[in-house]
Amino acid sequence: MPDGQLMLSGTQRINDAGHLEIGQCDVVDLVAEFGTPLYVVDEAHLREQCRQYRESFARKLPQVNICFAGKALLTTAMCRIIDQEGLHLDVASGGELYTAQQAGFPPERMLLHGNFKLDDELEMAADMGLSRIVVDSLSELRRIAEMARCRGENADIHLRVVPGIKPQTHSYVQTGQIDTKFGLHISTGAAAEGIRQAQESADVNLHGVHCHIGSQMFELDSFARAAHIMVGFMAQMREQLGLTLKELNLGGGLGIAYTAEDAPPTIAELADIIAEALEQALAEYDYPMPVLILEPGRSLVGTAGTTLYTVGPVKEIPGVRTYVAVDGGLSDNPRPALYEAQYTALVANRANEPRTMPVRLAGRHCETDTLIEEVALAPVQEGDIIAVFSTGAYNYSMASNYNRFPRPAMVLVQEGQADVIVHREGLDDLLRQDVIPQRLR
Ligand code: LLP
Repeated sequence: MPDGQLMLSGTQRINDAGHLEIGQCDVVDLVAEFGTPLYVVDEAHLREQCRQYRESFARKLPQVNICFAGKALLTTAMCRIIDQEGLHLDVASGGELYTAQQAGFPPERMLLHGNFKLDDELEMAADMGLSRIVVDSLSELRRIAEMARCRGENADIHLRVVPGIKPQTHSYVQTGQIDTKFGLHISTGAAAEGIRQAQESADVNLHGVHCHIGSQMFELDSFARAAHIMVGFMAQMREQLGLTLKELNLGGGLGIAYTAEDAPPTIAELADIIAEALEQALAEYDYPMPVLILEPGRSLVGTAGTTLYTVGPVKEIPGVRTYVAVDGGLSDNPRPALYEAQYTALVANRANEPRTMPVRLAGRHCETDTLIEEVALAPVQEGDIIAVFSTGAYNYSMASNYNRFPRPAMVLVQEGQADVIVHREGLDDLLRQDVIPQRLR
């Protein structure tokens, strides 16, 4: 059974009062000040993950851009941290683009993704002078070229290519296989056709190719295979079209530990395997070293996030199980419902007490919103604080207002200081877009 205490990461520790601390802030104090549910982001841990990526890859390869996948967690404060750490940023919508723009993120370090980018989003990216647009289809290539021509500019692009790799991960987050909506397939000839059209176009500058094969992956071999296939494809394009591409983006996808059973590879191990595969493939095809781009999301921010909840009713069903309800659930963390994602938790105000009570952690939505199927907790009572670990990625960014729950606040903690980076929504926020037409009044 998942064991909460083994999951401590970053600056998390148990203090003398037996309380969980993050960034030297006692979570009992955080809850008293900011309420629950509360997303807590460990700034030092997040910055350390950025550093690990930067340094592990810089040790191995001449030019690497680490590009944070904003879809994992994007707020204006996050943009500042990513900028300060010297990382690049990948955005996947006009909303993410706008967030980055408002935070003052340098556009020359940003790229835009999406399998159906709207004209407005492409215009906004062009207005901002984004470094690269990652083109996902032949029709989008035509639209971008047309737009660039009208603007009297050239569009700087990558082509998203499907290498035909099915990694071992949840089927909902596999994207490198043949049967995918994303990108241009190598196997069908669409990728080669895209390269040919981009090369012929006077309105786009084709800098390189991109692939992203999946998410929450533990098996490093898939990354190595992707590197090999992509270099092979680049070499084939050189042969057929006389074109040497200078940039290669291998996407994101490194998994993280959600429970004590998870043993993901380290960032340094990822760097080793990618560098080795890349060097081997480049030697095999006699291809010059490209600029390598990586787009980690989850592995940069996942373990830096913790969600705090207040315990409500504790119901024992004799001979069956005990349900512990918390004051959040599906709306702040849809991942268990969507991907059967596993998490672990700790009674954060009794963190030293033996975890002798097996329970099911349930949300408070009007459906069976199980957060954790089974977890051993310290004897838990109404009013206790539960910490759920590794919620930094794809929790807030996928949160909803289901059941008209206001979204939680988010605080950034470091060295005993806690700053709100996302305000808690209020009831009025829920009504902001509602209208009662005249005829119903
Ligand atoms: N680059 C591209 C083009 C992507 O589509 C993604 C994630 C990433 C990078 C970052 O991947 P990461 O390093 O975070 O694995 N909502 C799902 C995950 C969806 C991932 C979508 N694309 C979840 O909660 O598990």
